[in-house]
Amino acid sequence: MAAVNQVYIAIIGAGGVGKCFLSQLQALAARKPSPKLSLCYISTSRKALYNVDYSPVSLEGVTESLAASTQAPPPLPQVIDYLASAPAKVVLVDNTSSQDVADAYPLALSRGLSIVTPNKKAFSGSYKLWQDIFTASATSGAKVYHESSVGAGLPVISTLKDLVDTGDKVTKIEGVFSGTMSFLFNSFAPTEGQGGKWSEEVKKAKALGYTEPDPRDDLNGLDVARKLTILARLAGLPVESPTSFPVQSLIPKELETCSTGDEFLDKLPAFDQQMEDTKAAAEKAGKVVRFVGSIDVATQQVKVGLEQFDRSHPIASLKGSDNIISFYTERYGSNPLIIQGAGAGGDVTAMGVTGDLIKVLSQIA
Ligand SMILES: NC(=O)c1ccc[n+]([C@@H]2O[C@H](COP(=O)([O-])OP(=O)(O)OC[C@H]3O[C@@H](n4cnc5c(N)ncnc54)[C@H](OP(=O)(O)O)[C@@H]3O)[C@@H](O)[C@H]2O)c1
Repeated sequence: MAAVNQVYIAIIGAGGVGKCFLSQLQALAARKPSPKLSLCYISTSRKALYNVDYSPVSLEGVTESLAASTQAPPPLPQVIDYLASAPAKVVLVDNTSSQDVADAYPLALSRGLSIVTPNKKAFSGSYKLWQDIFTASATSGAKVYHESSVGAGLPVISTLKDLVDTGDKVTKIEGVFSGTMSFLFNSFAPTEGQGGKWSEEVKKAKALGYTEPDPRDDLNGLDVARKLTILARLAGLPVESPTSFPVQSLIPKELETCSTGDEFLDKLPAFDQQMEDTKAAAEKAGKVVRFVGSIDVATQQVKVGLEQFDRSHPIASLKGSDNIISFYTERYGSNPLIIQGAGAGGDVTAMGVTGDLIKVLSQIA
């Protein structure tokens, strides 16, 4: 039988963020004698490591042990059954971007498993899934935290929750929510100097690893729309889905049907003039163009797309691939509360997940 102050950790996903989380978990477990943290399950999409008698999986060299494992992950309902029968409380860490795993949150929560995750899918999918998740959590008492689903480790979600819970009135949220878009526009339309050609900047961003394998997955705006959906819902707007409000795609219509990302990049230079015109129009007004998301809480308007900003505006003078999120509220008046910094990267994203885990532990252990 497990000691009273033991908590089991189950991890799904061991990629870029998952591996950084594992190393932070190992350090946390070493630092924090109570509650004793024991890994009872870890899987990728093809491999799993767990013991039917819940004896802990060693955190030492776990990535290598997982790679060498011959166990396949059982179907999710079976994993949830296994975890719900554990002889101590369980925190499930979802480090995937899987919709299937996200869809299983209501079941997991209703069976008493707390969840921490950087996965946006559960919170930006259908509004029904959102409601099912928080209803299951409220009913069973299991916790659910997802700080890294917006702005990676930046304290965006916790700040918004604090603003709302303490009775401030959030009137508007505005920002650059994508590291890829941030990098692209900071180099295509810098506040000082000329900037490069649009297609060249997209190629450069891909070569530096800032884009998805197919850059259209960044340029379609959906990733930003998902983050806006999460923040709008937390601010009290019942947004139905990330496609239920205007989202500007930067993929030229003619290139939507390219069969590969490479074909898209080869053909993109032919459309550089469209983006040059957008940049020139902003310059004529003494401004720069940026790809932003905004939520006007009073009018319930959510939108994602290109906007012009004065060169002195904090959004215009962002650097590198940083994110910036401004909260306009009654208490903060005309000077918004601004959060800025790296919005992607394994270590900072895992920090948000580990921080969430610590919050859950303080409530359940
Ligand atoms: N990377 C960042 O900077 C960043 C920033 C903010 C948020 N996030 C979010 O963090 C999450 C993880 O990102 P990542 O960069 O670590 O992704 P990744 O490197 O692609 O890793 C994903 C991991 O999840 C596993 N996986 C996928 N589907 C699964 C399933 N159905 N069942 C079990 N395992 C599954 C993969 O296993 P296989 O390899 O076997 O497929 C892999 O181990 C995503 O939701 C992402 O949006 C990432």
